Amino acid sequence: MADWWDADGRRHRKQFANAAVAREHEHRETALAHAERATREMKLAARTGGSKRSQPKRDSGTIAPAKGKLGVMIPGMGAVATTFVAGVEAIRKGLAKPIGSLTQMGTVRLGKRTDGRSPKIKEFVPLAGLDDLVFTGWDIFEDNMFEAASNAGVLDYRLLEQLKPFLSSITPRAAVFDHNYVKKIDGPNVKKGKTKMDLAEQLRDDIRDFKKTSGATRLITMWCGSTESYIEPTEAHQSLKSFEKALRENDEMIAPSMMYAYASLMEGVPFANGAPNLTVDLPVMLELSRKNEAPICGKDFKTGQTLMKTVLAPAFKARLLGLSGWYSTNILGNRDGEVLDDPGSFKTKEESKLGVLEHILQPGLYPELYGNIFHKVRINYYPPRGDNKEGWDNIDIFGWLGYPMQIKVDFLCRDSILAAPIVLDLVLLMDLAQRCSELRGLGIQEWLSFYFKSPMTVPGLYPEHDLFIQLMKLKNTLRHLKGEELITHLGLEYYD
Ligand SMILES: NC(=O)c1ccc[n+]([C@@H]2O[C@H](COP(=O)([O-])OP(=O)(O)OC[C@H]3O[C@@H](n4cnc5c(N)ncnc54)[C@H](O)[C@@H]3O)[C@@H](O)[C@H]2O)c1
Repeated sequence: MADWWDADGRRHRKQFANAAVAREHEHRETALAHAERATREMKLAARTGGSKRSQPKRDSGTIAPAKGKLGVMIPGMGAVATTFVAGVEAIRKGLAKPIGSLTQMGTVRLGKRTDGRSPKIKEFVPLAGLDDLVFTGWDIFEDNMFEAASNAGVLDYRLLEQLKPFLSSITPRAAVFDHNYVKKIDGPNVKKGKTKMDLAEQLRDDIRDFKKTSGATRLITMWCGSTESYIEPTEAHQSLKSFEKALRENDEMIAPSMMYAYASLMEGVPFANGAPNLTVDLPVMLELSRKNEAPICGKDFKTGQTLMKTVLAPAFKARLLGLSGWYSTNILGNRDGEVLDDPGSFKTKEESKLGVLEHILQPGLYPELYGNIFHKVRINYYPPRGDNKEGWDNIDIFGWLGYPMQIKVDFLCRDSILAAPIVLDLVLLMDLAQRCSELRGLGIQEWLSFYFKSPMTVPGLYPEHDLFIQLMKLKNTLRHLKGEELITHLGLEYYD
């Protein structure tokens, strides 16, 4: 017997041969339900002549202005966090450009292709300005952000020197840490408390203190901490009541990242998860997020290899090219690589990376093309490379009459350089979500899937992994919020 969830989030029990078959059944049922709904809506639109007429502007609620400072709180002040904060300061000083950031450089087309309206996203929706960002964080090491950035070795020392006074002023608060969840590291800057509830209360004090001392009007928590060991949800994670009981009883299934998430959401602060840990991907967090109108999103930044995977796989499916195998391997030498050298942390990352192909290629719908894929992901800790990861992919595809072909991708990337603009966008868009009456009570912000390897969705809804569907979803959400027509790319009106 296994559980599956339908498109409305209702749980059902049924006999399945194994978990994969259960998941396949769930995807098929969900796809069918959504297809039926779409057909109903199209019929309705056709009856009311809606397909040719431009849609009326709908009231999509209000968006409060981005007034005052926005406080960014980062558990885990390592390579990604310091590259992000140093980058923001460098951009503010006019020393560099926000390359890779959709909110800073991206545009959104409005209306017809012939209208010539493509404002910058940051001019279209009211986002916080970079000058309004203030920062704090937690880490198990005592290094300030200048020292941590120097150790991470991502940014050039000449750039860091110019940012030294600012970066040195940001020192980490004592962390909530459990060595059982991150086996490869240990540090002295750790909170003490009798119970996990005590520790969570201390985090809540930190949040209130930062809000007061920084003068921020709004806050965001952005998890950039290490990847924790793999666990599955238990009874303790099912409701606020059971979670708080588990906190008081020091339940070992409550990971540190969950305590940060609980503390943030209790304080009404949105929480974004950049690592593959469960953290906010739990019923209790969804409940708390909706109750306190503090949006959540995650998980695991989509930066290097998975970014490429979610670009290439949709191309194969679009052309009905088959896939027999995809072997992905990485060499990585930063602290993240060291943490992922532990089998428990690696398993969390592996799960996050593996789901992508199945969801994009839909083997249930295309069994001859994608019914038998050998998909392998490896991460090897290799210190000489530091943060400059090398991600290799060997892809075995087949075409017309089954003839095999190969593609090799060798991405010599920079992990934190790819992650930092994602952090910036998430901070600004999560703040937007909380200022927006239509989004703030939804809990999961699925429209931000664009940024994640393993996007969160409500139970029963499979995630969208295709990068371009994700981008369309994000931009259409912005259009919708501003009462602009959604862009479907139908384009018949140009030939009318
Ligand atoms: N860089 C990327 O491309 C990328 C992509 C996807 C996900 N991620 C994830 O982002 C996270 C950060 O990556 P990174 O390269 O900055 O790693 P990092 O090791 O440089 O930094 C992580 C920091 O978190 C701290 N930490 C660990 N547990 C903590 C806790 N409980 N409380 C406070 N601090 C804690 C560590 O001491 C460390 O300084 C990792 O989980 C990584 O898997 C990174």
